[in-house]
Amino acid sequence: MARTSNRPAGPPVFGHSDATHAFWRRAIREARSAGAVTPFYLFDPEPVAATLGRLDALDLGRPALHWFSTKTQPLRPLLEWWRRQNRPAEVVSEAEFHLVLAAGFGIDAVLINGPAKHRWLPAVSQPGLRVNFDSLGELNALLPLAQRHRWRIGLRLCTGEEFDTEFPESPTQFGMTPDEAAIAVRRLRRAGLEVETLHFHLRTQVADAECYRRALTDVAAFAAMARLQPLFLDLGGGWPARHTLSRGGKRLDAGFSAESFALVVRQSLKWFPSVREVWLENGRHLTAGSGVLAVSVLDVKERRGLRQLICDGGRTLHALVSLWEQHELLPLVRRSGPLTRTACYGPTCMAFDQLVRRDLPRGLRVGDTLIWLEAGAYHLPWETRFSHGNAGIWWREGGRITPVRPRE
Ligand SMILES: Cc1ncc(COP(=O)(O)O)c(C=O)c1O
Repeated sequence: MARTSNRPAGPPVFGHSDATHAFWRRAIREARSAGAVTPFYLFDPEPVAATLGRLDALDLGRPALHWFSTKTQPLRPLLEWWRRQNRPAEVVSEAEFHLVLAAGFGIDAVLINGPAKHRWLPAVSQPGLRVNFDSLGELNALLPLAQRHRWRIGLRLCTGEEFDTEFPESPTQFGMTPDEAAIAVRRLRRAGLEVETLHFHLRTQVADAECYRRALTDVAAFAAMARLQPLFLDLGGGWPARHTLSRGGKRLDAGFSAESFALVVRQSLKWFPSVREVWLENGRHLTAGSGVLAVSVLDVKERRGLRQLICDGGRTLHALVSLWEQHELLPLVRRSGPLTRTACYGPTCMAFDQLVRRDLPRGLRVGDTLIWLEAGAYHLPWETRFSHGNAGIWWREGGRITPVRPRE
């Protein structure tokens, strides 16, 4: 059977600045002084603020609204920070709904999205909810409530541009086909409700802005067919995170440009004269850079040309995304020595539990702290407690460190 070589294909280039390295090294030292013990996550809103600044500077042709994708990073201090910026949040479950209310969001600043909401939404319904319907089944089950509580209605469309990345020949399970959505519009109108929002979420790590143009073309055709004049266009999330690489070493944002996206939206708005605001729900693009995972090296082995660092945190417990993404791994203390093919493992009994496999300095040793960057998206929601407890969570804002969750 063919074996994967331990030899590198070339060093991965993540493109972080020295200032970013210094920022996280300093932050980790501060967290440790405040009592953080590995494994722990550390989050700081400063990188989110920087990305928001870049997004706010884009001209989308209409006022833009950025909804916090709660599923991506269900972290209360970050939600509270986001709310203090006067920005709204999108949720897809009852737990997320309660989390954003606890974080102080008003009902008007909450967008309810996701599939099969009829399972949980009746228990929390209230007047004026903003709800994006995902299917006719869901609509049928929830229509009486929508009518009684005068919900503000959106429809999620499954455009021709939406496909399952694992099986690209298949559509995803989300949203309505144009025919289904046309039935939904008629049913809603019979109930005295009008659609205000047209929505799609293509997938994550969208390769380039032209994907959005093709999806918008489908949405425009549907709106014309259904004689809809939406007030809001909700273009979902999907922008790639920066500084992350595919397993093959390609930057995941290599073909994506925010400026090209803005141009696509401005050009497409000619089909939507009624639209007042453009909405986005980016998750990973906004929050990935706002956190890191710190782990310690517990043991070192070397065999068949591979150096193996066994750490107290890794893929299985903390960083499932390492299955398909490469992130930078930064030693807290710089180590020298020849670059040696090295694999860093978590502490679980699974060969699968490998955070990285790349060339690292031989000087790395037991007791060293390693910092896994871009841990601010889809790490907390996908952590496991396989054989071990949860990692600690620490929050740093304005240089002040506070504990969020103790290490188990
Ligand atoms: C409806 C919706 N909006 C936004 C997002 C955020 O996606 P991303 O992190 O790719 O921007 C998701 C992710 O699954 C989603 O399902």
